[in-house]
Amino acid sequence: MIQIVHLSDIHFSEAYFVPEIAESMLQSINDLNPDIVVITGDLTENGFSAEYNGVKRFIDRIECKEKVLVPGNHDSKNAGYLHFEDLFENRFQTRNFGNMTIVGADSSQPDLDEGHLGRENYGWIKEAFSGEKFKVFALHHHLVPIPLAGRENTVLVDAGDVLDLLNKCRVNLVLCGHCHIPHVWNLNDMLVVNAGTFCSSKTRGKTTQCYNLIQAENSKETGKKEAEKIGNSSWKIRVSRVFPQGQTELVTETVM
Ligand SMILES: [Fe+2]
Ligand SMILES: [Fe+2]
Repeated sequence: MIQIVHLSDIHFSEAYFVPEIAESMLQSINDLNPDIVVITGDLTENGFSAEYNGVKRFIDRIECKEKVLVPGNHDSKNAGYLHFEDLFENRFQTRNFGNMTIVGADSSQPDLDEGHLGRENYGWIKEAFSGEKFKVFALHHHLVPIPLAGRENTVLVDAGDVLDLLNKCRVNLVLCGHCHIPHVWNLNDMLVVNAGTFCSSKTRGKTTQCYNLIQAENSKETGKKEAEKIGNSSWKIRVSRVFPQGQTELVTETVM
């Protein structure tokens, strides 16, 4: 079984970062000992160098060798994307871990809140997902609208084309952040999982800070009938939310 921790929207800054919650969440992630940690943007509030340095020190304390990060709209403010490239990896990347492919893409645009992936990226993403692995796509902005997001301006401006691309590539899991509302849609056997804010005070409505735990089990490992939907290459996926006091809530469980 592969365990992915998906967290988002740390918003490291004097104004919004809540250290007690961050410490509690950090401890629970390290206790889980995940295989992969995916962080879907808004690491910082303003994209400033000091914020980047602070959030880098914090992320370094997450005990996991494999981390995939993408920037959010807040990280690209004030030319902050330059710090992202210095401290983390490329803003676009393909990573292969065993029988899993993760593509991370920067959907931000400098000093704009709107997300945009862009046609120039569709080709390499299609190529990256050409194999028969478990496929994960990570980006900051929403791929589809979710409840409580208010007047809809959070989805990618090219969301329809990106949705079609990922669907044709038979992507299993899409991980997003941005609006600080945890939510899951299942679209054509593709789970679109939004994360809440990890440890900032920027919670929306009655939501609280949380992160997602995704457990993916290949039918070859389980040998269970329920996971034999598509020959022997199907996956059983569980998505749970973990909250600051360590409570865990199972959100969905599906076979794809
Ligand atoms: Fe955010
Ligand atoms: Fe955002």
